[in-house]
Amino acid sequence: MKPVGKVLYATGIVAGLVVFFWEDPFIPESLSGARVLLTGASAGIGEQMAYHYARFGAEIVLTARREAVLQKVMEKCLTLGAKKVFYIPADMSFPSEPEKVVQFALQKLGGLDYLVLNHIGRTRFQMWTGDVEYTRWLMQVNFFSYVELTTAALPTLEQSRGSLVVVSSVAGKIPTPFTTSYSATKFALDGFFSSLRHELTMQKSNVSITLCILGLIDTEAALENTRGKVHLRAAPAAEAALAIVRGGATRAHEVFYPWWLHQVCCLWVLSPSNRGQVLRSYYNYSSP
Ligand SMILES: NC(=O)c1ccc[n+]([C@@H]2O[C@H](COP(=O)([O-])OP(=O)(O)OC[C@H]3O[C@@H](n4cnc5c(N)ncnc54)[C@H](OP(=O)(O)O)[C@@H]3O)[C@@H](O)[C@H]2O)c1
Ligand SMILES: *[C@@H]1O[C@H](CO)[C@@H](O)[C@H](O)[C@H]1NC(C)=O
Ligand SMILES: *[C@@H]1O[C@H](CO)[C@@H](O)[C@H](O)[C@H]1NC(C)=O
Repeated sequence: MKPVGKVLYATGIVAGLVVFFWEDPFIPESLSGARVLLTGASAGIGEQMAYHYARFGAEIVLTARREAVLQKVMEKCLTLGAKKVFYIPADMSFPSEPEKVVQFALQKLGGLDYLVLNHIGRTRFQMWTGDVEYTRWLMQVNFFSYVELTTAALPTLEQSRGSLVVVSSVAGKIPTPFTTSYSATKFALDGFFSSLRHELTMQKSNVSITLCILGLIDTEAALENTRGKVHLRAAPAAEAALAIVRGGATRAHEVFYPWWLHQVCCLWVLSPSNRGQVLRSYYNYSSP
């Protein structure tokens, strides 16, 4: 083995050991009685986050559009150990809804420790068709409503030394095909919230911001969208949800799930010019 190889090899072993013995800073008890407002809570990863917060004994306000489904999630949260659970149906494509939802949560819980922003409008996994109206609508649901919810909740989060948790995607770090509008909304989240994190630090704010970068997760919506179109395995939603909940509780700046996405994103930035070709090889498409 060449000296360089030896050094790389040794570094790899040391890095492995550090990861293995790293003391987990997550204290589950810290979530007991925590007041959480969770969006996109009726299905997928949001629903799984609701169950994790419930098991840790949090007080939760759930929101999404479908009332009947929210009711069911609420009931399951109560059986799992949530101290209090409320829900409010709201459609985040309407600019008046975010403020209303935050006011509801403040009235029910008396304050907030976590604002978890997770909802998304229906994603079209297809080539760009020129539908600008759809892009505008998706920007409202996936981005502007996040900004509005945050603005309404920041004062109460300052009071509680609270946390803002923003769920994004690898498509918000690396541009991927078939996701023009979705990718744009996720890049926008990174720009806005990473800038806001600087400003909060400069102001010695009490509020933390956790941006979560997820790969393909096995939610119904994602599997239906990508079936036959990508050569990637989806990771379990319950595990993704737990990674997000822990990241928020430990006030991490960024969470990558699966963990190796961090390496993928670093490689993307550092890698040679054929990176686009490598990425496209994971997609099933026929050129005309
Ligand atoms: N699944 C993946 O592969 C994957 C990968 C990377 C990142 N992510 C991110 O993870 C988060 C959750 O994704 P998911 O796969 O769990 O999504 P999902 O299963 O489609 O769930 C979306 C949630 O948002 C709600 N919602 C939809 N339209 C809404 C609207 N107009 N107003 C308010 N709420 C609305 C839905 O409930 P209603 O229908 O009841 O409104 C549902 O609770 C998203 O931020 C997504 O970008 C997911
Ligand atoms: C931070 O929290 C403390 C209470 O823990 C509060 O007195 C203070 O005003 C908060 N800081 C800001 C910038 O609001
Ligand atoms: C690729 O897509 C075509 C249709 O466009 C489909 O018939 C085929 O089964 C797909 N291949 C894989 C491996 O999913």
